[in-house]
Amino acid sequence: MKTDFRKLYGSAEGMRVFRAPGRVNLIGEHTDYNLGFVLPVALDLATYIATAPSADGKLRLYSEFRQELREWNAADLGALTPQRHWTDYPVGVAQELLRAGFPIAPANLLIRSTVPEGSGLSSSAALEVSTALALLAGRPLDPLALARLCQRAEHNFARIPCGIMDQYISVFGREHSAVEIDCRSLGHRFVELPPDIVFVAVNTMVKHALAGSAYKERVAECAAAVAGIQQKFPEVASLRDVSPEQLESVAHTLPEVVARRARHVVTEDARVGQYVEASARGDLALMGKLLVESHRSLQHDYEVSCPELDFLVDTALAIDGVFGSRMTGGGFGGCTVTMLRPHAVERFGEEMARAYQRQYQTSPQVYVCRPSAGAGEVGDFAAIPAAIAP
Ligand code: GLA
Repeated sequence: MKTDFRKLYGSAEGMRVFRAPGRVNLIGEHTDYNLGFVLPVALDLATYIATAPSADGKLRLYSEFRQELREWNAADLGALTPQRHWTDYPVGVAQELLRAGFPIAPANLLIRSTVPEGSGLSSSAALEVSTALALLAGRPLDPLALARLCQRAEHNFARIPCGIMDQYISVFGREHSAVEIDCRSLGHRFVELPPDIVFVAVNTMVKHALAGSAYKERVAECAAAVAGIQQKFPEVASLRDVSPEQLESVAHTLPEVVARRARHVVTEDARVGQYVEASARGDLALMGKLLVESHRSLQHDYEVSCPELDFLVDTALAIDGVFGSRMTGGGFGGCTVTMLRPHAVERFGEEMARAYQRQYQTSPQVYVCRPSAGAGEVGDFAAIPAAIAP
């Protein structure tokens, strides 16, 4: 990366590199902004940002993937407005850093990412967190404050009212572990997964235009559900507080769609706990069953799946060695995650690719998920992957 940086900016004097991973969520979907539970894993797919001071007052960002260079006077960053462009994420982060009292020094940045964009593996959070670290350039910031700052960048600048999961796991990921996050207390515990299974993400290669607006709609429907439930249970502050029994007792008073949205969130929250317990007992069959229940709930009650995701899940479930499969992330495209036996991975990849190609004339990317460490500075430049062709 040093050679590439030098080629681009003329000098790599004082260059440092920061990394932030993407994620795959095993279970607990659309529960984070309802202050419930999620169980993501940080991936070895990550965004790497090389940075060095610039002498001319500019902040420059170069994306290898886009092959695009953008620059601003570092002093003007606070006044920029969203452009519906990939730079909204880093600029949004710069503005939140300024707001938090961290001046942004002029610098040249080179962005390299192995997280496929639009794949539902959280390329935006990886970009936000790696940008924050690069712009901080070693100035300390509490890890939770870092995750929350990046979430605010997404709210205030990219204008997506996302939960905390993606930024949190990018900061707090751990090798060989999933991380159970309590999205109300913002605490977490590491969950060691049974040894004889692997998780594989399969990318539909589509991202339907609906994704952003439908996400906002779901957030609003959950708020409507809380308001309705409060009529009978005033102590309820979020769907996190609602038991399945409570929900059933008020469901008939809610608009039908709102009741279904709430049912997804309430049952999904329960599934996260059951999944973690099943994992501790090594009950692989139950883990798989919970993944499938999660998918069906997202498909029918929450309605954030799409035909491509359903096709991948149904295809996976018919393959030998598979325990369970579901969509992962926000939905409307992106990836599925499938839990299977390690020896079945190769055949699984081949069969999935063949079936998807036949149905959609597209080859899906297939990633074996390796639970990896959270964000930080990269000391050993040899550990940085080579540039990915755009
Ligand atoms: C997106 C959001 C997350 C979360 C998931 C759905 O990835 O960024 O906060 O809500 O969707 O679980």
